[in-house]
Amino acid sequence: MSYPHTCYFQEVPSTSEQPTDEDLVQTVFRVGSYDIVIRKGHPLCCDELLTCDHESTTTTDRTGILMWPGSTVLAHALLALGGGGVLAGRTVLELGSGTGFCGVVASIFAKEVVVTDQSSEMRDIARLNLKANQRLQWRSRDASMSRCCTTSVLGLAWPGVGYSGSPFDESGHRQFDLLIASDVLYVDEPRCGGLDDVDIVSFFEVVHRKLADGGLALVAYANRERRGAQVIEECSVRCGLRCLVLPLPGFIRPDVLHAEGAASLNSVLMFGFVHIRVAATESGGISPDTFCSGALSLLRNISSLAA
Ligand SMILES: C[S@@+](CC[C@H](N)C(=O)[O-])C[C@H]1O[C@@H](n2cnc3c(N)ncnc32)[C@H](O)[C@@H]1O
Repeated sequence: MSYPHTCYFQEVPSTSEQPTDEDLVQTVFRVGSYDIVIRKGHPLCCDELLTCDHESTTTTDRTGILMWPGSTVLAHALLALGGGGVLAGRTVLELGSGTGFCGVVASIFAKEVVVTDQSSEMRDIARLNLKANQRLQWRSRDASMSRCCTTSVLGLAWPGVGYSGSPFDESGHRQFDLLIASDVLYVDEPRCGGLDDVDIVSFFEVVHRKLADGGLALVAYANRERRGAQVIEECSVRCGLRCLVLPLPGFIRPDVLHAEGAASLNSVLMFGFVHIRVAATESGGISPDTFCSGALSLLRNISSLAA
C-alpha cells in the first residue's frame, strides 16, 4: 500500500504547542473558512502501517494515523452539505475514521457526530482531534437553548482487510441520517489483488443497518484496485442499497481539482448509497421529501457552493 503525504488543504501556521508524543505532528488545515487542528502520524512513521501475521491471521492496521485523499474529497462534500443547510439537526456516523478529520468537519454543521474505528489507537487520536476543534462545533443561535453538537468516539468494526477480529459495534442499534467513510475499502497491494467481495459485503451490511430511513451514505473510495468500482456497486446492491456515483466537479471547485499535485485527489470516486426502498418511487427516482434527496441535489450542483 503506498502511503499519502498530502492533505490537499492549505496548511496554516500554528501558534499552538506541538504534542509531546513523538509519533504525532499537529497541523492546522484551512477547510473552507475553518481552521481545523489535526494531530496525525508523522509522515516518517509510514512503514508497516498494515501488517498481517499469516500464522495467526491477525491484522494490525495503523493506516488511519495518516490522512488519505478520500478524506479531502469527503470534507469538500461535507462543506457543500453544511453550506447548503441540510446537515442542520442531523445525526452523522463516521466509519473507519482514522484521525477523525471528517468527523470534525461534520461537527461544524450537524447536531450529533459519532466517530468510529476498529483501532483503539485511532479512536484516542480522533478524541484528541474532536476536542481540539470544539470551538468550531455547531451551536444553536438561540442563546436560551445552550445546545451544541454532541460528539462521541466509539468502536465499530466489520470483518475485512483492516480488521481480522469479530465484528463489533458500540453504537448499538442506533441509525443515522448521514454515514461517512473515506478510504476504508482497500487491499494491501492493489497491483496484486482486487477488493474481496466478502469484505465489501460485510461493510455494506453495516451501511444498510446503520442508515436511517431516507438517509444517505457517502463513501470516498481511492480507486486503486482493478474493478474496484464494479465490486463496490455489485456488493452494495446485494445488501439492499442503491449506488450512485457523484462526480467530483459537482461539489469541488475546479481550482481545487486542477491544482498542481491533485492527481490522487482526482482519482477518488465518491459514491452515494441509499436504501433501495427509498429509491423505489413510481418514477424510479428518490422520494423528494427525504434527507438524501436534498443532500444529493446539493452534491450534484457546484453552483450552490459559496465562492
Ligand atoms: C486508510 S485509513 C483511512 C482513514 C481516514 N478515513 C482517512 O480517509 O484519512 C483506514 C481506516 O479505516 C479503519 N478500518 C479499516 N478496516 C476497518 C474495519 N474492517 N472495521 C473498522 N475500521 C476499519 C482503519 O483502522 C483506519 O483507521
